[in-house]
Amino acid sequence: MISPDGSNAGPAILILGAPGAGKGTQAKRIAEVLQIPAISTGAIFRQNMKDRTELGQKAQSYMDAGEFVPDSVTNPMVKARLSAPDVASGFLLDGYPRTIDQAFYLRDALAATGRELDLVLEIAVELDEVVQRLLKRAEIEGRADDTEPVIRRRLEVYKEQTEPMVTYYADQDKLVQVDGIGTVDEVWERIRQVLTEYGLLEK
Ligand code: AP5
Repeated sequence: MISPDGSNAGPAILILGAPGAGKGTQAKRIAEVLQIPAISTGAIFRQNMKDRTELGQKAQSYMDAGEFVPDSVTNPMVKARLSAPDVASGFLLDGYPRTIDQAFYLRDALAATGRELDLVLEIAVELDEVVQRLLKRAEIEGRADDTEPVIRRRLEVYKEQTEPMVTYYADQDKLVQVDGIGTVDEVWERIRQVLTEYGLLEK
């Protein structure tokens, strides 16, 4: 995408959806075909927890309870990541922003470098389906926040705090909703079509 200074800054995309909607799964494919980094705040936190860093320690109790990590930790972390050289070709954000306040923070951080989000993809999946997906993942991967009570809390937090943010992007005509039910390939085909319509992928 063209930034106000005339430089080609590459696409700036956000993928959002409830826990288990398939954001991470589809983010990998989008990043691969568009050759841009996928930036997942959840993955950054998990890596830091694994490496026992100070950031990981700050995030741990919130993630284990299914609550959002405070903005005082999350916002500067994302800002720093967005100043890395690899985002010059564009980027895909997965899991950030999740609240209206984070959306405002991101808007201002991007505006400071003459950028803005080009496209917001929402993967829509019913709650019963995401719970089943996450319980299945729990058996395979054993992710600490994939226990049923924590999954339920993550879904509540999504409804309370993230759904209102979706409207913010819909009001700016940036939001495209994609049906997240079906196989990974079927959902990907729908996303591929959107990327093509937006001129981000060749037909
Ligand atoms: P995060 O890691 O972002 O977790 P999440 O939003 O709960 O989402 P998931 O990773 O569980 O699901 P997903 O939508 O990516 O689906 P996936 O592709 O993995 O965040 C974790 C925590 O970090 C938060 O709770 C919070 O504490 C903290 N955090 C993160 N960002 C933050 C922020 N901005 N502010 C504050 N705190 C923040 O798929 C799920 C499963 O389904 C997989 O097993 C997959 O194989 C399977 N699957 C995918 N697609 C399909 C399909 N089409 N059919 C069947 N199965 C499928």
